[in-house]
Amino acid sequence: MVKIAPSILSASFEKLGADIDEVVKAGADMIHLDVMDGVFVPNITFGPPVIKSLPRYDGVEMDAHLMITHPENNIQSFLDAGVDRISVHVESTIHLQRLLQQIRAAGVKPAVALNPSTPLHSLDWILEDLDMVLLMSVNPGFGGQKYIPATTKKIETLKETIVKRGLGIEIQVDGGVYPGNAHELASAGVDILVAGSAVFGREDYKQAISELKPK
Ligand code: DX5
Ligand code: ZN
Repeated sequence: MVKIAPSILSASFEKLGADIDEVVKAGADMIHLDVMDGVFVPNITFGPPVIKSLPRYDGVEMDAHLMITHPENNIQSFLDAGVDRISVHVESTIHLQRLLQQIRAAGVKPAVALNPSTPLHSLDWILEDLDMVLLMSVNPGFGGQKYIPATTKKIETLKETIVKRGLGIEIQVDGGVYPGNAHELASAGVDILVAGSAVFGREDYKQAISELKPK
């Protein structure tokens, strides 16, 4: 069953807590936290103090997606903020494997995110260190962009590799996800769909989430 991770980038920042509460009641499986530093991506969002202040719900993981340069400089504050997963971009750090180990040692699920132009083979020697791979299906920085069609093939290829190597890694896809491509993505092998505008841009969150869950 595909999990849905609403991205609070598209939530209302003046009532974040209430929006999270509503989306959890509507059936969200995890909450996706888009952290942007204005350097790695052309946008700035929020950091550890905001994440720390957000409400927590049993069984609903806090899923941090770090779009920041040199995440190793701030990793401890994100770990201290209390999240369940952390995705770091392969393009953002030099000693990726060390960072992943540090995340795992803190009891948090380590994940790596790839920009649309980054090849899958950058994961070849770190797959064993991962619980999840986040494939960006738009260039990161903003919500509401259009899904890049080449991602579907990338998902299929990654899924084949994971199965062939007998690993239990989840695939997350992020950007331009909407009811019209959710089924295609699930068939390609996605485990977790991140959705910002397709959830928070709708009046009825419950309806929005159920439309994203492939029947
Ligand atoms: C983009 C972010 C995404 C974004 C998705 O940089 O990583 O999580 O919020 O937004 P939608 O679903 O609107 O494309
Ligand atoms: Zn994201």
